[in-house]
Amino acid sequence: MTEHAGGSVQRPRRGRPFEVVAHRGASGEAPEHTLAAYRRAIEEGADSLECDVRLTADGHLVCVHDRRVDRTSDGRGAVSALELAELAALDFGSWKAGSPDAARLPGGELTSVLTLERLLELVAHTPRPVGLAIETKHPTRWAGQVEERLLVLLRRYRELPGLRVMSFSARSLERVRAGAPWVPTAYLMQWLLPRHRDGSLPPGVSIAGPHVRVLWSHPEYVARAHRAGHRVHVWTVDEPDDVELCVRLGVDAVITNRPSRVCAQLE
Ligand code: G3P
Ligand code: CA
Repeated sequence: MTEHAGGSVQRPRRGRPFEVVAHRGASGEAPEHTLAAYRRAIEEGADSLECDVRLTADGHLVCVHDRRVDRTSDGRGAVSALELAELAALDFGSWKAGSPDAARLPGGELTSVLTLERLLELVAHTPRPVGLAIETKHPTRWAGQVEERLLVLLRRYRELPGLRVMSFSARSLERVRAGAPWVPTAYLMQWLLPRHRDGSLPPGVSIAGPHVRVLWSHPEYVARAHRAGHRVHVWTVDEPDDVELCVRLGVDAVITNRPSRVCAQLE
């Protein structure tokens, strides 16, 4: 773990040029956001894990990317309108065709809905340091209540190294910083807006989170962000050419669906 302005971050495994972050777990191989995908990512040597969080109708933070559960489960409906018990009755594994984990473990804990609390527990009990990048998803009908619930967990797991919060919503990051100023925040960018081209970020944010396509069209951006005192975490970096570009530009972390492939390429 290293200290920077804006809090501690996960140190990449010795010899790696940057931190390898498993996007929704090892989601290239296992059903995304399940315990199976996260355990696999840890086994494959990822330095950190990434997850999206949404608030259920009864106030639990769960790891689900889409607004609705239709794509990644055998159920239907918006996460924000379902209670945790209803989500727990769904199968979040079988949709992933060809996943050995899904086939081996139908309906079990490894492929059921994952709460953020359970994921934090997994990270806390892993015998080596593993970072966790938590992404808040907006807009949602629960608005600021997402951060309220998140802050409770961030305070509880304050000692966990390598915790950070990411979002496309600057407002969400502001709420997190107000309640948990020790947690580094990352501002996600689909595109590089003119106002951020000089490397500047919303006030208090210490990590830039550009899509990898931003680096192809603006390779100078990484040096600019570094000069502005920020780290650069890039998503979603699955292809060897993209990994190569990230090595060349000296980014600080890559977020990938295929941690084992990226780790192998970096060997
Ligand atoms: O890690 C950032 C990335 O996950 C943002 O996009 O849609 O995959 O959550 P998305
Ligand atoms: Ca995400």
